[in-house]
Parts: sequence; C-alpha cells; structure tokens
Amino acid sequence: MSKIKTAFFCQNCGTQSPKWVGKCPSCGEWNTFVEEVVQKSTEGLKPSASTRMSKPRLISDLNAGDHQRIPIVDQELHRVLGGGLVPGSLILFGGEPGIGKSTLMLQLALKQLNLSVLYVSGEESEEQIKMRVERLGFDNPRCLVLMETALENILLHLEDTQPDLLIIDSIQTLTSSGIESSPGSVSQVRECTTKLMKFAKESGTAVFLIGHITKEGTLAGPKVLEHMVDCVLQFEGDRHHIYRLLRTSKNRFGSTNELGIYEMQGTGLREVSNPSEILINAQSEQLSGTAIAATMEGLRPLLVEIQALASTAVYGTPQRSTTGFDIRRLNMLLAVLEKRCGFRLGMKDVFLNIAGGIRLEDPAMDLAVITAILSSSEDLVVPSSICFAGEVGLSGEIRPVTRIEQRVNEAAKLGFKEIYISKFNKSSDIKNAEIKVHRISKVEELFSSLFG
Ligand code: TYD
Ligand code: MG
Repeated sequence: MSKIKTAFFCQNCGTQSPKWVGKCPSCGEWNTFVEEVVQKSTEGLKPSASTRMSKPRLISDLNAGDHQRIPIVDQELHRVLGGGLVPGSLILFGGEPGIGKSTLMLQLALKQLNLSVLYVSGEESEEQIKMRVERLGFDNPRCLVLMETALENILLHLEDTQPDLLIIDSIQTLTSSGIESSPGSVSQVRECTTKLMKFAKESGTAVFLIGHITKEGTLAGPKVLEHMVDCVLQFEGDRHHIYRLLRTSKNRFGSTNELGIYEMQGTGLREVSNPSEILINAQSEQLSGTAIAATMEGLRPLLVEIQALASTAVYGTPQRSTTGFDIRRLNMLLAVLEKRCGFRLGMKDVFLNIAGGIRLEDPAMDLAVITAILSSSEDLVVPSSICFAGEVGLSGEIRPVTRIEQRVNEAAKLGFKEIYISKFNKSSDIKNAEIKVHRISKVEELFSSLFG
C-alpha cells in the first residue's frame, strides 16, 4: 500500500494546492483551504481495456436521434428542462434548506408512473419518507426507496434495479470509499459526482442530484460540479411565502429562459399553470399605491402587482426598503422622480413590495414601480384595469422593453383594458392588440395621462 497522500482544497472553488495557503490564488477567498486525503491511482494513465476508444468523426455523420426525451408528468419541470427528460442526463437540483427540494423530487418519483424510479435518501429515515409519501397522497408501485450514503453500495443496488430515473438526496451526504475526507467536502462531492456521471452515461439512467446551497446562495461544493452536470436547476422563493420558482442556470438540452412556478400546499407542491392570476390581488376595493407590471421571466409573461407606500419620514433619514425588488434600482428611480420630475420624495419613507414573495429583476417593472410610488405619495388610485411595461432611464425617459407583444397579449388575455408602454417600442411589434395601448416617452406624460 502506498503512503496516504493529502492535498489542500479550496472549499469555495475546488482549487488544489500541495500546501496550506491563506488566500485562494484562484477565487481570492480567504481561509478556505482544507486538507483532504486524495488517493492517487496509478492506473488510468494508460487507456484501460474497458473504455471504448472513440474516433474522430465528421460532424455530419453524428447521430442526434439518440436523445429520445421522456415526457415528465410535472408540466412545470417538463418545460424547464426543455421539453422532457433526456436519458443518461445528470441534473443538479439546488436550493436553500427547507425550500421543498425533497418534496418536489419525491413527488416526481411518485407521479412518474411510466418509469422505474430509485429514490436514494441519505438525509431522511424510512419513517420520515413514508410520512411524506402519505402526505403527498400519490403511490407509484415502481418506485423504490433506499436509505444509503455509501456510493459503492448504491452503485451495486443500481446494477440490480436498473432504474430509468435515479434521485439522490443529497450529493453532500454521499461518501465514496476511495476518498477519505468527510461527506460534503470538495473531493468527496467531486468523486461521487464523477462516478454517478459515469453510471448515467453508461446506463442511460437519468440522474437528479439534490444539492445544498451555501449562505452566499451558490451551490455548495466546487464550481467543477456545475461544469460536470448537464443541467443546473435552482429552486428558490421565500420560505415564508407559498410560491416557489424553478429556474435553470445551465441546460445542455434546452434554453435557460424557462421558469416554473409552484405553490407549496399542505399536500405538496402544486404546479401553477396560470401564475398571473394569483400574483395579482383580487380586491374589490381599490387602494392607492398599487400598480400592475407586465413583466417577463425568461420566456414567460407574468403580471405582478407592485405595492408601494410613501409616507413622511418619522426619523431624520428617510427609510427605503424593498421586498423582491433591487433596492439600488428603487433609489435610482426615486432620484429620477425627484430630480427630473420634481416630486418631493427626498423626505419620505418609501417601501416597495412585489406581491407573492417572489423576486424579479425585469427592468420593465420600472414604470409600474414609479406609478405605485406616485400613486401612494399623491394618494391617487390607479384603476385596476391598467398595467405597465417600460424601463425608466436616468433622464426620466421611458425606454422600450423586449417582447412587448407577448406582454400586451398576456395583459389582454387577463382582462386588462389599457397598457402603458414606451413610445419607442416599434408599433409594428404590436399587431392587432386587443387592449388600448398608451405610448409615452417621459415620466411627466405618464402622470398627466393617468391622474390628469
Ligand atoms: P423539504 O422538501 O424537506 O425541503 P428541502 O428538501 O429543500 O430541505 O420541504 C420542507 C418544507 O416544506 C417543510 O418546512 C414543510 C413544507 N411542506 C409543506 O408545506 N407541505 C408538504 O406537503 C410538504 C411535504 C412539506
Ligand atoms: Mg431535503
């Protein structure tokens, strides 16, 4: 037996170093190097007999028909993955603790009646899983469950069961016997993922890896993990709210623009197929300080309610606070209103909230944001049949936004009567709109047109 070899790994980016260093030369983080045992295998340097050598081939000779996608029962996941599951793909599914990762994956395992599924849990006991299954209220006779954290044992079971779909909850709990460092460390995570990737490619089993997220909001484990897998899905939302968003940050089989929306209920996650209807408060009484923004999340039009409260500051320094919206953007919009349009907001507290607890970044929300602020500040009600889509520039001009036709059509579909957009959006983009389209070029025009 050769001597045990150790090396130091940056826990942030995975950089390897023979000695301990205080600052990672690659990612610049401090104090992230941890000693881990590595076992250098002497084999692998020469091509082994088991690996098939591949030859260079003409691109025109390549065969694309290999990817027969499997339809997923869950429509949101189906769409986010780019239209179904590709056999042999490796998908990393990340999210904060308690957001609902295990719930969504177990639901997928139970609903997918056309596939044989193996759900491996290293985090929960049999009783916990059973209780959750009862709570979800589905049953799949072809779904197997395994409580195991040793990767080699899992691989043995995989040979026997040959599932179509494998779910690992979570990659940070697995240990491979070849590596002696603790579960969740960079080298363990990397080794286990490499072995599972090999298994997925050889067997054609689609593999979902649940991954934890660090405090900073990135997937725990090295960046190399994201390079290795085919898709990276992220599950996000506010734990205290019921809505959850499913996004892709990498997808080798489709676009990363798709967005899935779920609602956490007592009996699991429900797909939200018509999100705009729930993100707008259906109130009979109309209040000042709210405006509806026609936003896009990826390729999906979404109408959301923006709520603002502007009141005289009680303390010397006015407070600005937002939920679901970038606070720097709010400060910028307030400065534009103050400087370019003469509204006295400098001495007011301003609070801004996107209904439903979701976080959005579409610049087209600007117009609705300033409308909500002005509506609250002047105590004038914006009729609920109007919505807005436009970006506000530093000189108070309303700038055009992308995919205006989809936004207008979505607003019309949901029964809005009027929409305010930028004058600079090409009129050819909006053909036969079914609602009244107001085109404006400046914030002042908005105010005079809305409130007279
Ligand atoms: P979980 O899937 O365990 O989160 P993760 O695996 O991402 O850590 O879900 C945790 C939360 O979801 C838990 O706090 C309770 C809630 N929940 C429901 O509200 N309804 C349900 O039907 C289930 C199963 C969970
Ligand atoms: Mg979990």
